[in-house]
Amino acid sequence: MSKLSKRLSIIADLVDSNTICDVGCDHGKLVKYLLDEKKIKFAYVSDISMQSLKKAINLLANHESNFEAICCDGLKGYKDKLIDECVISGMGGEQIIDIIKSSPISIQKFILSPQHNIIKTKKFMLENNYNITFDIIIKDKNKFYNVFKCEKTQNKVKLNEYQLIFGKDNFTNLISDIDEYVIFELNKLYAIKHQTKNSDLNYKIDIFEKAKKERKL
Ligand SMILES: C[S@@+](CC[C@H](N)C(=O)[O-])C[C@H]1O[C@@H](n2cnc3c(N)ncnc32)[C@H](O)[C@@H]1O
Repeated sequence: MSKLSKRLSIIADLVDSNTICDVGCDHGKLVKYLLDEKKIKFAYVSDISMQSLKKAINLLANHESNFEAICCDGLKGYKDKLIDECVISGMGGEQIIDIIKSSPISIQKFILSPQHNIIKTKKFMLENNYNITFDIIIKDKNKFYNVFKCEKTQNKVKLNEYQLIFGKDNFTNLISDIDEYVIFELNKLYAIKHQTKNSDLNYKIDIFEKAKKERKL
């Protein structure tokens, strides 16, 4: 049985479909876990790098009939595939947006964990008729990560900046590391403001101060 990092465990817990794809799968650990645990029936693993994809193919050797490996850029190699849910994690937000924009297929659910441009990615998903149904910040091996799930909706959902930054589950879900994140970001913002005297940071500082107050930190 493979053991997942905290970040990948949260992603695995969010999967609730039979057929998924892991775009940029690299090592393939997520799909290995999901198949071992029988949480999914079939998975596509794909990566732009054949070298990375080979790692996944080797790791999934004992699930031969339950996966297909595709070497391609984003979702471009998924034409005619039926996917219930797509995971894209460990890439930049702009890259994730490009992948979703150029997808040849429509996908109802995404689980995303961008490394940068997180708010931009969330805004893009909302603008494209996805609702954010789960959204959390966690700390894994000394780094903070955002993991959020998006599901296609009829009605466009709008979130304010505070909701976009802090996510809907951070203040209620015990696995969240929001308190540590708020203090870490505030210290960083004050340090940058001190060095640069940039008053543009005040708006962001106010948002994090509001969260600090709400959390009674
Ligand atoms: C940091 S790893 C993340 C691995 C795994 N998804 C995770 O979250 O642990 C990023 C992977 O994305 C792949 N990648 C980068 N750009 C890609 C693209 N446009 N399409 C598919 N895979 C891509 C890289 O080759 C690499 O294997």
